[in-house]
Amino acid sequence: MPANMPTTTLLFIGAALLALSPATRATLFYPTVQASLLEHILVDTHGAHASGFADAITPCTNYVSGSQNEGRETAAQWLRVAFHDFVTAHVDEGTGGIDASIGFETLREEDSGTAFNDSFSFFRPYVSSKVSMADLVALSVTMSVGSCGGPQIPVRGGRIDATEAGPFGVPAPDTDLPTTLQYFANSGFNQVDSIGLTACGHTMGSVHHGGFPTVVGPQAVANNNIAGGIHFDSTVAVFDPVVVTEYLNSTGQAGGPLVTSFNVSSRSDLRLYESDNNATMIELAQQGEGFLHTCSTLLQRMVETVPSNVVLSDVVSPIEIKPINASLDFDATGNLIFTGYIRVLSSVAANAPTSLSISTSESQSVPLTAESTLGTNVFGVTTFFPFNVSITGPNSFESFKIQCPGREKTFSVKSSAFVVPSLSSSTSEATTVTNFTVAVSSSAPSYIKRSSKRDSTPGITVQAPVGQMGTLGPAILTFSDVTVTNIGSKAGYELWFGSVNVGTNVTGAVSIAALDSDGNELDILFV
Ligand code: HEM
Ligand SMILES: *[C@@H]1O[C@H](CO)[C@@H](O)[C@H](O)[C@H]1NC(C)=O
Ligand SMILES: *[C@@H]1O[C@H](CO)[C@@H](O)[C@H](O)[C@H]1NC(C)=O
Ligand SMILES: *[C@@H]1O[C@H](CO)[C@@H](O)[C@H](O)[C@H]1NC(C)=O
Ligand SMILES: *[C@@H]1O[C@H](CO)[C@@H](O)[C@H](O)[C@H]1NC(C)=O
Ligand SMILES: *[C@@H]1O[C@H](CO)[C@@H](O)[C@H](O)[C@H]1NC(C)=O
Ligand SMILES: *[C@@H]1O[C@H](CO)[C@@H](O)[C@H](O)[C@H]1NC(C)=O
Ligand SMILES: *[C@@H]1O[C@H](CO)[C@@H](O)[C@H](O)[C@H]1NC(C)=O
Ligand SMILES: *[C@@H]1O[C@H](CO)[C@@H](O)[C@H](O)[C@H]1NC(C)=O
Repeated sequence: MPANMPTTTLLFIGAALLALSPATRATLFYPTVQASLLEHILVDTHGAHASGFADAITPCTNYVSGSQNEGRETAAQWLRVAFHDFVTAHVDEGTGGIDASIGFETLREEDSGTAFNDSFSFFRPYVSSKVSMADLVALSVTMSVGSCGGPQIPVRGGRIDATEAGPFGVPAPDTDLPTTLQYFANSGFNQVDSIGLTACGHTMGSVHHGGFPTVVGPQAVANNNIAGGIHFDSTVAVFDPVVVTEYLNSTGQAGGPLVTSFNVSSRSDLRLYESDNNATMIELAQQGEGFLHTCSTLLQRMVETVPSNVVLSDVVSPIEIKPINASLDFDATGNLIFTGYIRVLSSVAANAPTSLSISTSESQSVPLTAESTLGTNVFGVTTFFPFNVSITGPNSFESFKIQCPGREKTFSVKSSAFVVPSLSSSTSEATTVTNFTVAVSSSAPSYIKRSSKRDSTPGITVQAPVGQMGTLGPAILTFSDVTVTNIGSKAGYELWFGSVNVGTNVTGAVSIAALDSDGNELDILFV
């Protein structure tokens, strides 16, 4: 464990390790497809099998969308994007909040600056049928704060992307105090909360002449600061309480440009911080490092402000023993295999296992060897164990167990139908064509959806994220009840082939889901 890891993170891992649930649900993503994908982005940040998401904010001073001389900082942008998406919520009406509607609102004066499209264009390829842009906005807050010295903010999934712009209502530097407090109140935050949330946001990043010339004058522009950014505090890329103490002491950046601007009408932070005679700022300063805990609570509330029809998932916690891309497949000779990776998360490299074993409900235990390259992340290190075991028949394979010294976990499997990885792919030419094969156990056809027209054929849904007008957030295109044709059988399964012309503008992974007779997903594959 890195020496500088905050105690909250240790507690967080502790809780995750204790929560070793018994056998989990049916599809081969654990604990759910969505949680598995979000956890991958959260945990697989550096080294082996990293998702690439954290590269944008590594180091925390990095600017991923342009030259380092711009004077911009991606980690800070992500926090600001989430704030602007959130603050137009009307909690009384159950509307707005984190729903990615900000993507449609980038041309508004109240959303000045490059942060919104910079962030959405980076997040865009990660959106799929199971990961919304709005969930990425929330996750980006956890990741930027958590990897830049701040607390590990618990994050949930399940947000739904808006299909159009929402109402106006983001406070700007020249917004008067009553209006600013009204905007925050609309989104469920009172005066004390609003001061706290703003101080938490303004501990990273800058106000830029480029975008805010009425706050920061042209003198800030320099060869290594082309956008003319002036930092909020002396530690621009660290999530810490420095902005609060510098404000109260008038030292360092003295709270930043929204306190000190040459233009009195642009001093929105000063008006807000002073609105209770500095009482909240003094209280925040007295908390010392406890400020981080206050911010964690406020920022979690911010990203959990969602439209009333959204049901958020459980907290996405780092998983100690995690199957990755675990799937049934056929080998070259048509035999059934079970293949993928087991990832083990350890708090320190010294505790990382070098071997473990896998046993299936129908076979003996097979030893696995670790890949030599580890992953590293704020939670510890990950070790990857590829596996490829043969399975004799679909009906006896119900679970598999992973064992290594001191740790053991069993996962359940539903093997009645699966999308065949080696027989499924998407082309990425001018138009995307997704070809797939679904295998359905010959002896368990009752699991599978039967439409009146196509008795005994599997139910298939193909979904693709595609670009849409007015936002860089993709829309999800759904093809239901895709036509499939029988192409024979292998290893006790009937094989069904299908092909979908998904069209142009595909922005990320296409999903193919096999459904049971109730419309629940038996298996899903991303290609
Ligand atoms: C009265 C409320 C607020 C006002 C008027 C305000 C205004 C601004 C302005 C004008 C900027 C400069 C943007 C740029 O030049 O690119 C900024 C930056 C920023 N704001 Fe706020 N803000 C407020 C509250 C918040 C809150 C509540 C958060 C987050 C919880 C937040 C997070 C940020 C961050 C992280 C930056 C730095 C962005 C960067 O460096 O690109 N702000 N804010
Ligand atoms: C100060 O800010 C106000 C409000 O944004 C703006 O109308 C005015 O032009 C600004 N003054 C200067 C000198 O930039
Ligand atoms: C700045 O403020 C903090 C908290 O208000 C205080 O502990 C510290 O001594 C002050 N530092 C200076 C240089 O005034
Ligand atoms: C609040 O604190 C700031 C920074 O120290 C100071 O300039 C301002 O006068 C204070 N305002 C009140 C009302 O105490
Ligand atoms: C798994 O092993 C089989 C036979 O040993 C081999 O044919 C197949 O290519 C392997 N598949 C993967 C995905 O490693
Ligand atoms: C996809 O399926 C179509 C229709 O059967 C076929 O013409 C095409 O060659 C296939 N493409 C790939 C990449 O397998
Ligand atoms: C692709 O996206 C662009 C906007 O980004 C839109 O104008 C066009 O209609 C889309 N094409 C299709 C086939 O959806
Ligand atoms: C952001 O991207 C969207 C979608 O491409 C576009 O319509 C909008 O004009 C862009 N906004 C800015 C500020 O460039
Ligand atoms: C899992 O599959 C996805 C494609 O769906 C791929 O991008 C990723 O690299 C795979 N992960 C591992 C550990 O092989």
